[in-house]
Amino acid sequence: MKRRDMLTLAVVTAALFTTTSLVASGDAMAQDKKWRIGFSQATTIEPWRAQFNKDIIAEAAKHPEVELIITDGEDKTEKQVADVENLIRQEVDAILVSPKESAGLTGVVMQAIDARIPVFVLDRNVETDKYVQFVGGDNKLIGRAAGEYAVELLGGKGKATGNIVEIWGGMGTQPAHDRHDGFHEFTDKEPGIKNLLDQQSGDWKQDQAYNIMATALRNNEKIDLVYGHNDPMAYGAYLAAKDAGREKEIKFIGIDALPGEGVTWVKNGELTATFLYATPGADGLIQAIKYLNGEKVEKNVVLPTMKVTAENAEQVLKEKGM
Ligand code: FRU
Repeated sequence: MKRRDMLTLAVVTAALFTTTSLVASGDAMAQDKKWRIGFSQATTIEPWRAQFNKDIIAEAAKHPEVELIITDGEDKTEKQVADVENLIRQEVDAILVSPKESAGLTGVVMQAIDARIPVFVLDRNVETDKYVQFVGGDNKLIGRAAGEYAVELLGGKGKATGNIVEIWGGMGTQPAHDRHDGFHEFTDKEPGIKNLLDQQSGDWKQDQAYNIMATALRNNEKIDLVYGHNDPMAYGAYLAAKDAGREKEIKFIGIDALPGEGVTWVKNGELTATFLYATPGADGLIQAIKYLNGEKVEKNVVLPTMKVTAENAEQVLKEKGM
């Protein structure tokens, strides 16, 4: 391994495990860099977030003119607000932010904008549109695709019957609401479908989803389908059903489709389907660099999705070299 590769590796490793990290690409000293870009990540304890950081770090390594500073909000709004305040104080050239929740991060995003720092919002939104750009998946569309597939699994349009357990992501986030709304555009049209729970949130976490499902299993003799707003929660629900000896009667649908998680669980027959929610790590950074170099960027960049079922899971894994 060349010294430079070792250095990069060391920095990348540090970036994944410390709260604030400097990701310098190449050998140049930080002060030689043209652009200092701050990225405020909501948390790193969730697998999708870890992948997101890997993606942005890999992209940064392709831009020797960029110094990337990554902070970890540790899944707490107050911590993430302090992180963004810190980036403002450092007078970075641009701030990328993937908010823990919309309302809580809006004020500090406005502070950055008032300080004339261009802000790029990634994956979860804030309650203003004064930022330069939003980059992320279309959660309404993904919810609709999941709802349409649920109806198909439960007997088809006009004939679907079954009891559904829906496990919400964080209530303070737009993706959870959009994933809910899109899904119900399809399932609410079916008189034979019954929703067993009312707005129960697992806050995107596998263990919380496990507990919600364990209770739902105790309270309901018949559960036909689980819709988790992300794969860790769909999988948590699967594990609860398995522990109750009822996993074979139930279909499980999730969202994210990370190769090592959702796609593998589909391949193993644990989840019935997952929908790709690509991380905006690479695209977010590319767009910010474009903007700093004086190019025009669009207000919204929508990342593509796809459905992963037993039919294509293996192919998807192969394409990822797994
Ligand atoms: C990770 C995560 C993903 C989900 C996304 C929604 O924090 O919960 O699993 O798709 O956030 O914003």
